[in-house]
Amino acid sequence: MRFSTPAAVFASPPDTDAIPIVDLHFGSWRLVLERKPLSRKGLARAYSRVAPRWDRMLSRIGFEAGYRALLRAHRIKGERVLEAGAGTGAFAAALAALWGPCFAVDGADISEAMLRRAVERWHGLGLNASGRLTDIRALPFPDQTFDLVLAGHVLEHLSDPKEAILELWRVLRPGGVLVAVVTRKSPLGRYIQWRWRVRCFDADDLRSLFSFGDEVEVVPLPGPMLCGWMSLACLVRRL
Ligand SMILES: C[S@@+](CC[C@H](N)C(=O)[O-])C[C@H]1O[C@@H](n2cnc3c(N)ncnc32)[C@H](O)[C@@H]1O
Repeated sequence: MRFSTPAAVFASPPDTDAIPIVDLHFGSWRLVLERKPLSRKGLARAYSRVAPRWDRMLSRIGFEAGYRALLRAHRIKGERVLEAGAGTGAFAAALAALWGPCFAVDGADISEAMLRRAVERWHGLGLNASGRLTDIRALPFPDQTFDLVLAGHVLEHLSDPKEAILELWRVLRPGGVLVAVVTRKSPLGRYIQWRWRVRCFDADDLRSLFSFGDEVEVVPLPGPMLCGWMSLACLVRRL
């Protein structure tokens, strides 16, 4: 399986902003430490390298069970689903494990090796599935295409997550739900930040990023213990 790469994926301007790591205030002093994110090419290469081991890592941490627990607790369903930053497709696979293969799914990712695994896995589950090798900040879908948008651990890679969030919102239909899971500000989150140069979020960061949503709920990712320590979930409804 090969995906065509829209020129825009790697040709668009590089991230110039930085990922905030530390922002401390002491009296009149402010200490700010930032890190340059990996380039899109570098990130795609890094994920393609870990693709063969990714599912094993996810299930060891408990994220697959965490995604399932989150979707079950909030009775999240969809008929036309987008998994943004799909990786190996764990989020949509969790949806299928709960409700069966009763939806169509599109995956969007910049790593071909990850995306190929996602689409193969979804086909194996009996889903009508396809993959787009694309940056989630410029999705090749018309407005209001999906009634469920899943974004698991991808927004933290972006120096300006708002840009991607607005794009995910654009393709979401009224009545639909956007579910984003992100790395949390916590000691474990800091380790992920050091390893992958991602940003970490707390509940206030998420509420402010998604403040335009009609109903916004932020919860620790349920499931095995590490999930809640490492990740926060944000559920945003579009009325
Ligand atoms: C931490 S992995 C998460 C994968 C999957 N969602 C999961 O929960 O297992 C992040 C994924 O996002 C992809 N990614 C990172 N930045 C992206 C971007 N700007 N556009 C599309 N995909 C991106 C990476 O290639 C990688 O597959």
